[in-house]
Amino acid sequence: MASLLVLGAGYLGAALAEAALDEGDQVTLADNWYATERDQLLPLERRGARVENADIRERDAMRRLLSDGHDRVYLLAAQASRPLAFADPDYTEQTNLVGPRVVAEELGAGAGTALVFASSLRVYGPAPAGDVGPDHGYGSQGDLAHLSKLYAEMLLRMHAAQAGFDLAILRLGIAYGPSPVEHSRPESQTVVDKFRRLAASGSPLPLDRGGEATIGVVHVSDAARILRAAPTERGISVANVAAESTTVAAVAAMAEGREPAAGPACRFVTPFDYRHRLADYLG
Ligand SMILES: NC(=O)c1ccc[n+]([C@@H]2O[C@H](COP(=O)([O-])OP(=O)(O)OC[C@H]3O[C@@H](n4cnc5c(N)ncnc54)[C@H](O)[C@@H]3O)[C@@H](O)[C@H]2O)c1
Repeated sequence: MASLLVLGAGYLGAALAEAALDEGDQVTLADNWYATERDQLLPLERRGARVENADIRERDAMRRLLSDGHDRVYLLAAQASRPLAFADPDYTEQTNLVGPRVVAEELGAGAGTALVFASSLRVYGPAPAGDVGPDHGYGSQGDLAHLSKLYAEMLLRMHAAQAGFDLAILRLGIAYGPSPVEHSRPESQTVVDKFRRLAASGSPLPLDRGGEATIGVVHVSDAARILRAAPTERGISVANVAAESTTVAAVAAMAEGREPAAGPACRFVTPFDYRHRLADYLG
């Protein structure tokens, strides 16, 4: 039985907590309720999860939570939405830049706790080509929610190397599927579930530039299982989390029951096994 501290009790954090409780882990979830309502955590709380009010920018709150001596800390708290990054750039910057620094500084002061950071496949830029593994360079960014991942990755690597804690950076594709926490506001919804809902109601699916962009996708229960098992190696590691590489147009086609036309421009290389396929979910 492991003791897990999940910073960010949102869509992925709640799914991770559910998977960890299933395996008998002790789980603490912490959030400042920016994108999630505390009441959404009640079912997990009833199952034994501890739920805390905490902002990752607040040093005292992080010190208090980290002093409990967890086996692993998951940094999933972020302003993760692209539209909200334009609407609220100050908050995005503060949470996504200052928050990881405070967490890393406070973690560095303790001993033996591993850190798992949820980064994004978007660090490779808008149009990577060929096989894209973790050694592929960073690409250009179009919003602060994703640009901040580059800073946070490098910042956490610096602190992990200096303080000697294990760090797993997981670059996640777009997650889909049911979680104990799902967001109703459109700015926080991602493409697979959004297209699934729109197609079910017979609404048109909006495609930027014909939906040519390549994306990696992962079912949230696969993502939760992979997060829970991380880090799988000592020291600093970086890995992609994407069961499939596809295009936005292909997701739209699958959601509408059509054959996808063109294939993706790149393939995100990943070391993990996946149990869920997009076609089963959208079919
Ligand atoms: N869901 C995806 O498809 C996906 C894909 C790639 C990367 N990621 C990354 O994974 C992480 C988790 O994503 P998610 O989908 O669960 O997002 P989410 O928005 O559902 O969860 C993030 C949580 O962080 C909380 N939060 C925001 N600011 C905070 C602060 N200052 N202090 C404490 N908590 C704060 C929010 O209230 C929210 O509950 C994010 O870093 C995101 O960028 C997610």
